[in-house]
Amino acid sequence: MLRFLTAGESHGPALVTILDGLPAGLALTRDDIDRELARRQHGYGRGGRMKIEQDRVEILSGVRHGRTLGSPISMTIANRDWANWQKPMAIEPLDLDDDEAKRVTRPRPGHADLAGALKYAATDARDILERASARETTARVAVGAVCRKFLAAFEVAVASHTVSLGAVAGPEERETGWEAIVAAEGTPLRCADTEIERRMIEEIDRARKAGDSVGGSFQVVARGVPPGLGSHRHWDLRLNARLAAALCSIQSVKAISVGSGVASASAAGSEFHDEIFYDEARRRFHRKTNNAGGIEGGISNGEEIRVRVYVKPLSTLPRALHSVDLKSKEEFQAQVERTDVSAIAAAGVVGEAMTALVLAEAFLEKFGGDSMQEIARNHRGYLEQIRDY
Ligand SMILES: Cc1cc2nc3c(=O)[nH]c(=O)nc-3n(C[C@H](O)[C@H](O)[C@H](O)COP(=O)(O)O)c2cc1C
Repeated sequence: MLRFLTAGESHGPALVTILDGLPAGLALTRDDIDRELARRQHGYGRGGRMKIEQDRVEILSGVRHGRTLGSPISMTIANRDWANWQKPMAIEPLDLDDDEAKRVTRPRPGHADLAGALKYAATDARDILERASARETTARVAVGAVCRKFLAAFEVAVASHTVSLGAVAGPEERETGWEAIVAAEGTPLRCADTEIERRMIEEIDRARKAGDSVGGSFQVVARGVPPGLGSHRHWDLRLNARLAAALCSIQSVKAISVGSGVASASAAGSEFHDEIFYDEARRRFHRKTNNAGGIEGGISNGEEIRVRVYVKPLSTLPRALHSVDLKSKEEFQAQVERTDVSAIAAAGVVGEAMTALVLAEAFLEKFGGDSMQEIARNHRGYLEQIRDY
């Protein structure tokens, strides 16, 4: 079983994570992880926090001389901003006034502030928002980077691109090819269409001027996934369900669509389903369309896995929304934390990380072993088996 936990508050000393269940013998360096952390910090529309943080991982266990040991991999990523938050986030009790403690009594609509304060009997919503914050996704991206490295050893690659921002989008039915997605790396919003990206940037500038925020959507694509990951056997083994849960667990993600899943509800079966062909030369089944997004019956079918992920507008707005003070019950405009206008490019990187985790877990279920050699043998044998099918 591949599993991970994260810990850490947004303005605490560090984010912490333990990833358990990866085999021994995977080549892994800090650079593999730092590269992904840098990708998460990139993107037009981010706020001041990203200028302060330049994330670097410390690997505390599970790796020796550049190779995994098969033991739990523990990692930390320091919060550089901690230097400014030592009193408000102190572990020991301190006698501080509301300002010094940076207490939050005005919950922000759209955040965990109110629901969390009620649930945990907190009178200071900072007790909630520090952990609910998407700063936590830094640790997920570190975990995802390790999973990507594992998948890459078996020629499975994961990428993402921004598809829409607010109302700006290309034609709904257009599918962007793998090469174009990869080529969009490093552009301001990781959007594969330069003209649409230009309009997205204008939309972000407009929202910033209006003190507002915008949502959007991105697509995650996984290439090289063999047929047979996940299972039809049970609800919790179905690959689409596992991807849905993992992607919907990302802060601000409100919906996902596997392949052309949303369009499928209004399509005729004859238009929607991907007809099956056989390539004699390569001895493999294949499809000419991929409306299923690479998953049928909860099992990967060998085509690219494509999942679209829909993100709501960020909740913290310079133009504050109506709220009610937790203590006095007076009506207020909600308190403003430092905020992004859009984090869509970063959300895509987090989406890749969660996808890599789910695929690595399903891969280990199918080809499981304690070392890379053992898994490689199982993987090779299975690929031969389906070629001789
Ligand atoms: C990468 C990333 C960055 C985010 N940055 C912000 C931000 O700066 N301001 C904000 O209000 N919300 C931000 N969010 C969204 C909130 O964390 C999220 O809306 C909030 O925790 C409530 O959770 P929910 O939207 O899943 O219900 C971000 C989300 C992601 C994925």
